[in-house]
Amino acid sequence: MSWIRKNTLSFLQLFAVKIIKCGRIPQHVAFIMDGNRRYARKNQVAGIQGHAEGFNKLAETLQWCLDLGIKEVTVYAFSIENFKRSREEVDALIDLAVEKFQRLLDEREKLMENGVRISVIGNLSLIPDNLRQLMAEAMLITKDNDKAFLNIAFAYTSRDEITETVKTIAEGVRNNAISLSDISEDFFSRCLYTSRSPDPDLIIRTSGEIRFSDYLLWQISHSCVHFANVLWPESSIWDLLIAIFHYQRGHAELNRSKIYQKTIDQSCTLRAVAFTRKVEKNKQSFLELAVSSS
Ligand code: FPP
Ligand code: MG
Repeated sequence: MSWIRKNTLSFLQLFAVKIIKCGRIPQHVAFIMDGNRRYARKNQVAGIQGHAEGFNKLAETLQWCLDLGIKEVTVYAFSIENFKRSREEVDALIDLAVEKFQRLLDEREKLMENGVRISVIGNLSLIPDNLRQLMAEAMLITKDNDKAFLNIAFAYTSRDEITETVKTIAEGVRNNAISLSDISEDFFSRCLYTSRSPDPDLIIRTSGEIRFSDYLLWQISHSCVHFANVLWPESSIWDLLIAIFHYQRGHAELNRSKIYQKTIDQSCTLRAVAFTRKVEKNKQSFLELAVSSS
């Protein structure tokens, strides 16, 4: 299945979408797509079939998000913890990702037409070479797109992201590129894997589990959090609309805390900005190297 597919929403669903769009729409939504294996067990199919259905649901959800006017989506596709699952499941998930990224590249005109920028956030050095090459190519060809943003967290955990960021900054201090006084919350955010994204307005976890599983912990301190009691492959547009309604009800309060945060943010010094540009440049060189080693 393609990443971008046209949905056939019923008249009632289209009407509900129209109503919800009268309120404020979150611009960035993060998903923890949980419950694929329970879905597989429930339907007596192989575990990987649950993940494949999970991908299909992701494709559907991306179209709903486009229809709703959500500009940016971040999904948790594979955590560093997931490497500890059985060899069979890890290999199957990597194969699924290879197949889907290959498909994405085959359909690149659709991405360019829709102006979608793809980013893979995570510790790319942990990803097998063949998959890393495809991901790097997808990121490079879409890097200047700016209509919609899809961030795929792969080989990701927040603790790893924060640890790697601390190493990058420590290295900068050691080389005298920056000094301790250049380090602020804003600067730190700009050095994370998610440096190019605003923080999510809304985070949704499916499957009824009430935890964050080391996902975007720095970025979601002011986000609306919604836990849905539905397995990811079974989720529907109604579940998404309910989550947005939850966000709309709590939005005024969230906005207040964001405004408060803005007032206490220290802006970046010129030296810090130059350093973050260098970090971005290094990331790009890493991607170019990954593509050229194919
Ligand atoms: C969590 O369900 C889901 C995952 C670990 C994988 C999610 C991946 C996809 C939906 C496919 C995305 C693929 C690409 C290429 C973006 P679980 O396995 O923890 O299920 P459980 O909670 O029922 O055990
Ligand atoms: Mg799970």
